Amino acid sequence: MHSRITPYGEVRIGPVQSLYDWLVNHFSDQVSSRICPPSVALTGGGTPMGFYRWMATERMGFSPVAKHIIWTVSDERMVPVDSSESNFGNARRALLDPMGVPDDSMLAWDTERAPEDAADWYSHLWDYSFGEGKAYDLCLLGMGPDCHIASLFPGSPLLQNPFGSKRTFAAVNVPEKGWRLTVTPDGLRRCGSIVIMVTGASKAEAVKRVFECGDEPVLDCPARLVGHFQDKVTWLIDNEAGAGIPIG
Ligand code: 6PG
Repeated sequence: MHSRITPYGEVRIGPVQSLYDWLVNHFSDQVSSRICPPSVALTGGGTPMGFYRWMATERMGFSPVAKHIIWTVSDERMVPVDSSESNFGNARRALLDPMGVPDDSMLAWDTERAPEDAADWYSHLWDYSFGEGKAYDLCLLGMGPDCHIASLFPGSPLLQNPFGSKRTFAAVNVPEKGWRLTVTPDGLRRCGSIVIMVTGASKAEAVKRVFECGDEPVLDCPARLVGHFQDKVTWLIDNEAGAGIPIG
């Protein structure tokens, strides 16, 4: 695996297997370096599903570690948890249940509430459990072909004055997608560590936009937001997705 430091965080490029291995070690480091159980936010989309399935088949030895983590997701769609569109539901079915993670180590968004109410409820529960102003110890993200991360899409009102609101979580109505619940830019800034996993040739153009496209604004290219707190960011990019950027 090649790695280099960029204005958007550390970039690691290699075969997908080496990225998965690195991430498992990173999860384990979170547990070993803390007295209290660390909080880990998983994410949605197809990229992490590959990782979850691999973990549940190849890395069952991780189960004892997984039980010492509080698991949640960085963003959610307004669907029931048993829907195949539910980020938490998918993470639970593919990774957390097979690993034997107990119910009281899982925190899902309550999507039966109205969107704003669901975001407030999650925020209150979060502050009560972890302390006001805290965000995830580790946040795993994917990136869409339009360069969105979490549910921060191009043109999102949450990106207009990204650090103006001190909210950690919010509801946002995304054109053509409907309501989403998401960690905010300021919430991301307050995470302990952020890992963005990007795989497949279909993401090569988006990766190039983040790292090679001069001064494209965050409002158009949301993933560039992480340039504001690059010291805590690691990109895990497979060889296909990283084909358009220099390695080594
Ligand atoms: C979601 C997400 C989103 C996702 C990216 C990448 O709910 O869709 O949380 O940010 O991580 O869209 O998704 P893919 O891996 O499917 O490309």
